Amino acid sequence: MIYLLDTADVESIKRCNEFYPIEGVTTNPSIIAKEKKDFWELVEEIRNIIGNDKMFHIQTRAEKAEDIIKEAMLLIGRLGGEIYIKIPICEEGLKATMQLNQMGIKVTMTAIFTPAQALLAARAGASFVAPYVNRLDNILGDGVDVVAQIVEEFKKHDIQTKVLAASFKNAEQVHKCALAGCHSATITEGTLKNLVSYPMTDSAIKGFDKDWKKVYGDKIILDL
Ligand code: E4P
Repeated sequence: MIYLLDTADVESIKRCNEFYPIEGVTTNPSIIAKEKKDFWELVEEIRNIIGNDKMFHIQTRAEKAEDIIKEAMLLIGRLGGEIYIKIPICEEGLKATMQLNQMGIKVTMTAIFTPAQALLAARAGASFVAPYVNRLDNILGDGVDVVAQIVEEFKKHDIQTKVLAASFKNAEQVHKCALAGCHSATITEGTLKNLVSYPMTDSAIKGFDKDWKKVYGDKIILDL
């Protein structure tokens, strides 16, 4: 499974881009609005931080297919690079996805809550589908199970569309999606930190430090 960063917080993007093997950034209108910044300045800054080779999944706002396509063209023109147009699943979204697909533009269909929606999105030509794990868990659903069903469904039907699991609240949900064979997960810096840290690791690192210092003091290998 690969990791993307689910935020428009530029400081967090800078940190995670430096310290974690992230393959890109995902946003949605709520994530963008949270930053309270000029839209174009913000998304251009994100593109500058991650560079042209990393994925930028950026969501449209228009409701009609024709306008979604115009927004997609505008986003591609201004941001360039490896870009995926995020479109929530609905009739207009499917129409726009089919047309964008014919134009060779990559789409991520988002706000996916059922395997049936994922299949339709894939048939419309989406490159990625984004099922919302925690929002399902919040209503006594089973987000990881929905992800697992989508993975299975795509395998059975030989569908190449990738599953980009989204909406996470903890590291366990993310890891279970990995075990289910999910292609990618978009998560926050907090969840990335929870995936890397482990008390036994901290204690192992402290032990290395203590033992070394007994013989070599504060010197590192470069000083020897
Ligand atoms: C990402 O693309 C989704 O829009 C996002 O993960 C939703 O997360 P939330 O359920 O925490 O709002």
